[in-house]
Amino acid sequence: MSAPAVTVDNVSVRFRLYHERNNSLKSAVMRGRRSVHEDFEALHNVSLEIPAGSTFGIVGRNGAGKSTLLKCIARILYPDSGRIVTRGRMASMLELGSGFHPELSGRENVYLNGSILGMSRRTVAAKFDEIVSFAGVGKFIDQPIKNYSSGMYVRLGFAVAINVDPDILVVDEILAVGDAAFAEKSRQKFVELKAAGTTIVMVTHAISNIRQMCDSAAWIDSGRLVSIGDSNRIADEYTAAVGLGDDQQQR
Ligand SMILES: Nc1ncnc2c1ncn2[C@@H]1O[C@H](COP(=O)(O)OP(=O)(O)O)[C@@H](O)[C@H]1O
Ligand SMILES: [Mg+2]
Repeated sequence: MSAPAVTVDNVSVRFRLYHERNNSLKSAVMRGRRSVHEDFEALHNVSLEIPAGSTFGIVGRNGAGKSTLLKCIARILYPDSGRIVTRGRMASMLELGSGFHPELSGRENVYLNGSILGMSRRTVAAKFDEIVSFAGVGKFIDQPIKNYSSGMYVRLGFAVAINVDPDILVVDEILAVGDAAFAEKSRQKFVELKAAGTTIVMVTHAISNIRQMCDSAAWIDSGRLVSIGDSNRIADEYTAAVGLGDDQQQR
């Protein structure tokens, strides 16, 4: 067996939450150097392995820690303890706003992103038309990104991520954005990437995607790994636990 594409080893992430009980200057002075906060653990001792070339889904309720885990895998966030090992070139499409510069045009952002992902200017130029056509942003390509609708923004980000030939593609709820036509086009692209051997890690609320697209999956709740394994088994366990059918998942 080949080495896993992603190894998550005992990872915990804590966020510090500050409480503003009283904002007066007097109370701040009285409190002195003691700050009022608590540590909130968004991930607690999570360990998992994602086999190279497989498609891996992550499910869980809102606030479970799914996006936090993806950010750690994509190295946008660093765990407070534990470690993550990834093998291969990674491209990610996470939340709105990550990766693009609002003042630059779509064209400039495509080149900038391509170079960050390790592509030469020539390679980006060769793929440019395909990226723009996949994103369907048309003449907006020379407009500053800040003028894009959220749908255009996500489509362009995804078009770049899938066209840079990543070994590992990390995507957060991409199929939930955009219209049905774009979702179908993206699904098609996932099939091609999988056939080319790309490891895909995706968070999705649509259990039908877990069943149809993923080989294996993990269910996370309150920052803890509840269950991991065959995607249909995880889909069964999760839907049974939340008491909803496949297409009635809570957002
Ligand atoms: N930067 C942050 N600061 C404080 N709390 C955060 C931050 N990011 C996420 N959280 C909290 O961590 C928990 C997990 O968030 P997230 O990973 O986004 O969940 P999910 O993607 O499963 O909905 C949530 O309770 C969320 O409010
Ligand atoms: Mg999320």
